[in-house]
Amino acid sequence: MKDKIEHILHEVENFVAESKEQVEEYRIKWLSKKGQITGLFDEFKTVGPDLKKEFGQKLNELRNKAQEKINVLKEKYESLHSSSDKQIDLTIPGDPSVAIGSRHPISIVRNKITELFSRIGFTVSDGREIEDDWHNFSALNTPENHPARDMQDTFYVETPNIVLRTQTSSVQVHIMQNTKPPIRTISPGRVYRNEAISARAHCQFHQVEGLYIDKGVSFADLKQTMLYFSKEMFGADTKIRLRPSYFPFTEPSAEMDISCTLCKGEGCNVCKHTGWVEILGCGMVDPQVLENCGIDSKIYTGFAFGMGIERVTMLKYQVNDIRLYFENDIRFLKQFSSAI
Ligand code: DAH
Repeated sequence: MKDKIEHILHEVENFVAESKEQVEEYRIKWLSKKGQITGLFDEFKTVGPDLKKEFGQKLNELRNKAQEKINVLKEKYESLHSSSDKQIDLTIPGDPSVAIGSRHPISIVRNKITELFSRIGFTVSDGREIEDDWHNFSALNTPENHPARDMQDTFYVETPNIVLRTQTSSVQVHIMQNTKPPIRTISPGRVYRNEAISARAHCQFHQVEGLYIDKGVSFADLKQTMLYFSKEMFGADTKIRLRPSYFPFTEPSAEMDISCTLCKGEGCNVCKHTGWVEILGCGMVDPQVLENCGIDSKIYTGFAFGMGIERVTMLKYQVNDIRLYFENDIRFLKQFSSAI
């Protein structure tokens, strides 16, 4: 009996089936009612008590191995069979009932801004949303107790040094610290301010910061870049105007208006009948900011600008409530499915 067990065990171990039919053939040969292994179990009844334990174990082991081998091979042939059997009809048209999602309007506009600036050589830089006080304020000429800090109500993660960034201008600082000019980059991202939520203000929103530093960069370069952007973003007939303003990190500073996208400058509710709507802040990077970040202000000059993506989106799509961007109401989002 021992020889028989070993003989079949050897056969089981070396068995390689070539077809599903062959697997079935061997299952019958070994494990069916009249199979060899089943037969050995009958024979086992006649084994003397002193050998029962040894043969019993061997026999069980043989049966388990055979069963396992059959199972594995069966599965292999069944899965092969089913996958090769399926006929895929590549000519069937798509199922129109499957809804295609749409991009969020903020993503659409952010991508558009990124694309427009990349066409004129701007790279994209990523920043951090949790920022230290120095990068968000001090390096940008906003020392402690400076009244300019009142311009932005800040969320503190750890007082007094760690904040949720209030502006993407903080990315400028990192870039200037780590890159040798020429620098030409934009940094889109989320910013946070401790503001009461209303149709016009939110505690979180998105900005794009732009920075261009090289030898001989002038205000004319800034103006031309802004004009290019505005025409590409809002249409070729868009006009811009720059009004003197104040930001701690630029000198001179300006706020930029575009001709109203809705009434084309005629005067309407959106532009409060002025024909102009404010869109961004900009200016020449203050030499002190360049020095703060390790750039020689005697050799290099540059311009910077910052705009709110919600604001640009609002003007582009006439959405008049900033809260809609964060509620993600499907009825609102669906309206942007034709935009990309
Ligand atoms: N950081 C400013 C803000 O949040 C926007 C801004 C204004 C950015 C002028 C600039 C700039 O880079 O030059 O209001």
